[in-house]
Amino acid sequence: MQLLDGVLVSGHIKEQIKQEVTEWQAEGGKKPHLAAILVGNNPASEAYVGSKVKHCEELGFDSTLLRLPADISEAALIAEVEQLNNDDAIDGILVQLPLPEHISPDSVINAITPDKDVDGFHPISQGRMLLGQPTFLPATPYGIMLMLEYYKIDTTGMHCVVIGRSNIVGTPMTILMSRNGNPGNATVTMCHSRTKNLKEHTLSADIIIAAIGRPKYVTVDMVKPGAIIIDVGINRIDDPTKKSGSRLVGDVDFDDVAPISSYITPVPKGVGLMTICGLMKNTLLAAKLRGR
Ligand code: GUN
Repeated sequence: MQLLDGVLVSGHIKEQIKQEVTEWQAEGGKKPHLAAILVGNNPASEAYVGSKVKHCEELGFDSTLLRLPADISEAALIAEVEQLNNDDAIDGILVQLPLPEHISPDSVINAITPDKDVDGFHPISQGRMLLGQPTFLPATPYGIMLMLEYYKIDTTGMHCVVIGRSNIVGTPMTILMSRNGNPGNATVTMCHSRTKNLKEHTLSADIIIAAIGRPKYVTVDMVKPGAIIIDVGINRIDDPTKKSGSRLVGDVDFDDVAPISSYITPVPKGVGLMTICGLMKNTLLAAKLRGR
């Protein structure tokens, strides 16, 4: 078993990004500038956005964090997005999800101008991805592809089972893994909450990408020995042995599954760090495409 080490790979990619920013500035370009919108104070969202802002500082980007109240109207939120669309100093915009119940995430995402859509969630970005055209890839699937690339894992001809069908991870992952390229060229099965006999599918998988959002959902009896395991889950569970009273676990039962896998991502320090890399690479690309 080899650990797919998010600390190692993200460290390497962040060094590349820093160097590219330095070169871009030497050519007269401006620092890439990411604007993040956080609505309300969901603790997990606070942590994710905080980490994104911190990474901007580390990589020599500018960042703006817009904190908005949980009871903001959809129209007022869209007006904030439009202001950022029209602000020439901003290269990338992200609206942290989930949003409060009364706001349609689709309406807000649709309001982001596609040339600043560094999360890759806008229908234009997703459509371009589907067609294999250059675009901003959604950050988590992009980060997973970067990780497979770093470890030179040849996925050609593999059976890849993706568990989860969200617009953010599961669905784009199936597109990227089946595209003509490497990583890619896999035969992909998408499983979800209505899939019958999930275990029959996962047991024939050479690579499992688990994006379900349920702690330790993928157990050792569901995994073929030698399979590659990509765990996208970040779930907080009670743990009285910890000072905080809780700890993070993935969607995969790591302790049991790791020994029979060929490669596996840990949680934390796995895919989560790669998501940040995907976002930062998209923001740098946005700045360059905007030619500032
Ligand atoms: N919520 C969970 N993952 C993400 C992400 O990648 N981007 C945004 N904006 N919100 C999220």
